Amino acid sequence: MKWWQNAVIYQIYPRSFQDSNGDGIGDIQGIISRLDYLEELGVDAIWLSPVYQSPNDDNGYDISDYQAIHPEYGTMEDMDELIEEAKKRSIRIVMDLVVNHTSDEHNWFVEAKKGKENPYRDYYVWRNSVDGKEPNNLGSTFGGSAWELDETSGQYYLHLFSKKQPDLNWENEQMRSDIYEMMNYWLDKGIGGFRMDVIDLIGKKPDEEITADGPKLHDYLKELHDNTLKGRDVMTVGETWSATPETAKLYSHPDRNELSMVFQFEHMMLDEQPGKTKWDLKALDLQEWKEVLTKWQVELKDDGWNSLFLNNHDTPRAVSRFGNDTEFREKSAKCLAIVSHMMKGTPYIFQGEEIGMTNRKVKSIDEVDDIESINMYTERLEEGYSEEELLHVINVKGRDNARTPVQWSAEEQAGFTEGTPWLPVQPNYKEINIEAALKNTESVFYTYQRLIELRKNNPIMVWGDFELLMADHPSLFVYKRSYEGETWLVCANISEEPERLLLNELSLKSEMIISNAKRTTVTSDGLVLSPYEAFVVKL
Ligand code: NOJ
Repeated sequence: MKWWQNAVIYQIYPRSFQDSNGDGIGDIQGIISRLDYLEELGVDAIWLSPVYQSPNDDNGYDISDYQAIHPEYGTMEDMDELIEEAKKRSIRIVMDLVVNHTSDEHNWFVEAKKGKENPYRDYYVWRNSVDGKEPNNLGSTFGGSAWELDETSGQYYLHLFSKKQPDLNWENEQMRSDIYEMMNYWLDKGIGGFRMDVIDLIGKKPDEEITADGPKLHDYLKELHDNTLKGRDVMTVGETWSATPETAKLYSHPDRNELSMVFQFEHMMLDEQPGKTKWDLKALDLQEWKEVLTKWQVELKDDGWNSLFLNNHDTPRAVSRFGNDTEFREKSAKCLAIVSHMMKGTPYIFQGEEIGMTNRKVKSIDEVDDIESINMYTERLEEGYSEEELLHVINVKGRDNARTPVQWSAEEQAGFTEGTPWLPVQPNYKEINIEAALKNTESVFYTYQRLIELRKNNPIMVWGDFELLMADHPSLFVYKRSYEGETWLVCANISEEPERLLLNELSLKSEMIISNAKRTTVTSDGLVLSPYEAFVVKL
């Protein structure tokens, strides 16, 4: 068994985690000061969103020096101290690896822009104009064309994200080898692995307008593995918006030596209109959601590995999106935690999720920080959408929802900073905060703590087969896990109405493993599950 197979990983978005010096921006010393808390929660690793040198056009996902720490976050000594201090608590640090693109302020790009003869020119993707215009119709995820004109040379460079994030050219062997060297620098420090930003895009073929799943993608990943990860006890998780169960097996099959697992997003895109963008909303259908999650559980059973997550720094808060963040906030947060952590795979918790932090509401675009939301707003306003509808979708889907400061206590600025936070603290911090959660044994925090502990002590959670029951039920999510003669049944009511559950498998002898409703016994002749009630029993 690999260590990451029964691990639970906690994602830190450093800008919003904990400030230690009063500048309103979270930092590495802030993280160090909260390691005891993470140890109490029980997590095995931290996925640390980027802390590298960066002009912050995309909050650190635009890196100008991979081997330097942004002064806002601290120094390389602070980083070494974090790795060391985390290790003392048996927590590994998984670094964010952003190698589909760099910042336009990275030295490689500064050199590349000097001219066609520069040795770094080919580290990026340059094309001539076609009929005095962009080379083709490729669009950027953040709006507009993916091509930007470089006035000096008259050529265009590719940027699948902002124009300050030029795409690296993975066809260049020297560039690849520089990336491997940089990865080894970090691995030699004893980190626990990498989360690989939009890694499915590195094999792009821009002339054919192919971005994800390019023909050489898996060759690159194998080469990357052989030059960096091979022989090291580390984990990798690729961010792959394009993944299907078939491609996920290519990435994560243990015999292929590519990645440990990927983040797939199929279950995260079901509340948008198919073929459109994340901003084109559609109501989530629970049957469809169960079907998709089940497909991934079944397909990757023996030939790959799943990651389990319901939110991250790019998505809305899980409780606001899949649960209910008002009347049933705590109950639904626990319910979602149970449903997700009981599946097979490696669970990820996004900072604040463990206390049921909620989405943010803005009333004006001036309150928005996120480049993706701002660009979409500007574009769609011109296209004739109303301000009201655009603010509504930003409130539902915008990335700032997840990026407000972690609510540590009821003190001013929620104990996040002694200064003015870079993004305002949510008004509900007096009620929803970690200090209060730790004092209340019934809080969401203790459900997460228990789920993590259960995973450590029960191989069935790690290895058990998954079987969906009552697939057609519109609001009950019921599944079985079975391993070496043992069976657990997970039952959840993902709705605001009570629901009746009749299952022959249940009997008074079933042993309660975890419940969010103080339920101690179950019967087969009809239970009524209260709104968002969830429990797990051993049959
Ligand atoms: C995915 C990251 O999670 C997101 O925050 C970022 O904007 C893009 N990749 C580009 O790096």
